[in-house]
Amino acid sequence: MSLKTHLLLTVYWLFFLNITAKSAEVTFKNVSLFKSRVSPFATIPSSNTLKEYLPKENVFSITVVGEIPVLRKNSVTDISTVKILEFMGNGLKEIEPGALGNLHRMIKLSFNHNNLTTINEDVFDNLQIHDLDLEDNQIATIPSGALKNLPQLTTLYLGNNQLRSLDDGVFDRLDNLENLVISGNSISTLPEKFFRNMPKLKMVFLGNNSLKKMRKEIFQDSKIEYLDLSSNDIASLSDDFFQHLPHLRGIVLNHNHITAVPKGIFNHQNLDQVQITHNEISSIDPEAFDDMPKLANIYLSSNKIKVYNPNWFHNTPNIFRLFLSYNQMEELPDEAFKNIYNHKKQWIKLDGNKIKNVTPRTFKGFKNILNLNLVHNEIEKWDENFLADADVVIYLNLQDNKITCPEGNFDEVFKANFTYLSFNPLTKECVGKIKEWRTQNPNRVVSAEYV
Ligand SMILES: *[C@@H]1O[C@H](CO)[C@@H](O)[C@H](O)[C@H]1NC(C)=O
Ligand SMILES: *[C@@H]1O[C@H](CO)[C@@H](O)[C@H](O)[C@H]1NC(C)=O
Ligand SMILES: *[C@@H]1O[C@H](CO)[C@@H](O)[C@H](O)[C@H]1NC(C)=O
Ligand SMILES: *[C@@H]1O[C@H](CO)[C@@H](O)[C@H](O)[C@H]1NC(C)=O
Repeated sequence: MSLKTHLLLTVYWLFFLNITAKSAEVTFKNVSLFKSRVSPFATIPSSNTLKEYLPKENVFSITVVGEIPVLRKNSVTDISTVKILEFMGNGLKEIEPGALGNLHRMIKLSFNHNNLTTINEDVFDNLQIHDLDLEDNQIATIPSGALKNLPQLTTLYLGNNQLRSLDDGVFDRLDNLENLVISGNSISTLPEKFFRNMPKLKMVFLGNNSLKKMRKEIFQDSKIEYLDLSSNDIASLSDDFFQHLPHLRGIVLNHNHITAVPKGIFNHQNLDQVQITHNEISSIDPEAFDDMPKLANIYLSSNKIKVYNPNWFHNTPNIFRLFLSYNQMEELPDEAFKNIYNHKKQWIKLDGNKIKNVTPRTFKGFKNILNLNLVHNEIEKWDENFLADADVVIYLNLQDNKITCPEGNFDEVFKANFTYLSFNPLTKECVGKIKEWRTQNPNRVVSAEYV
């Protein structure tokens, strides 16, 4: 055999091997397709293309179940009947460039619970999807340029992966991105001005990462409206943390290590929601939450707050929901909530504290109560005068206290539409009196089971 023939044969042989190897490695082998989660409508014995197994008519959502180590070139292309396509728990390790294309009606593509470690460049090129879900994989790197040409993408889910950092500009070409979920990774810092080229970005979820110091420069030139930083290692925020977040409406800092809220951080911000539960806050400056024109909800539950300061929330006229559950308050000052009186129906949660004494002055001026929750405290005495100023009380919850019997005229004591008194050491006689009152006032609900 001449060398030339030999070489030709070798080339031919290699080519043949390659073809057989490729055809042996089909994408879908014993894989089932579901329309709902109930039962599969088709099983693919062996094929490299999904299209021919899909229903011919339009269908909302298809889930692909079964082992798929690699999504090969042309395996998920030319599909115009499916809106949502989910690959779930397939052990998928790689998506080859060219695997996805011409997905005309598709709005969401999901690879939840798979084993992707990176995103190959060009894989998602020119898809018109709105949502891309890559949560619960093992993605550790995203090359710059891997996520581009997704002109309609509004939500990107990258939660629960293994990202330690993100390159500057990695999402820069996602012009319509509104929601970015990067929770559950190991990110400890982000580049300066990381969000500057995401003009539509509104919601950023960074919970369950390793963020310690949040440099305000990260947010420079962003338009973020909602920022979730829960379950990180944040111990404090700088005075000017919000300087580059002028559009922010809500901040979530739950499950961090914040010990104090000084003044100067939150004042004059346009936030309507502040969540700092499950931290170690024992001190809040008297002016910490003053002058917040839009603040409506504040969540301070599960901290170490010992004293409620009635001067908090000065000139913060819209606040009406106050969550103070599971702190260490033993008493409430007179006119405790004097700064929270406005036309809205108020919601104050004080359950799980150690409050002992309530007096007619505690809730003085309190007019409009949707929900006053004092469950699991140490209140011994409840009196007809305690909510005398209230025109409306919908829910009054006094369960699990030390009340033996409320005092005074029951028509006043039970002025709330719903009063809960169970799990108190009510006397038998008291329970009898309450039951009798209840029969004459069927439009009020009073729970007072004898314990
Ligand atoms: C196909 O997959 C099902 C479960 O998804 C399994 O029970 C069955 O043994 C597989 N069949 C073959 C031929 O591998
Ligand atoms: C994929 O990841 C899951 C969860 O991390 C793991 O249990 C499984 O063994 C992995 N599968 C493959 C094929 O690597
Ligand atoms: C953080 O992880 C915990 C435990 O997995 C989970 O319950 C919680 O919802 C996560 N929080 C965020 C903000 O992702
Ligand atoms: C509470 O009671 C008042 C009068 O007793 C009634 O007009 C109102 O509709 C009730 N509200 C609710 C939420 O039950």
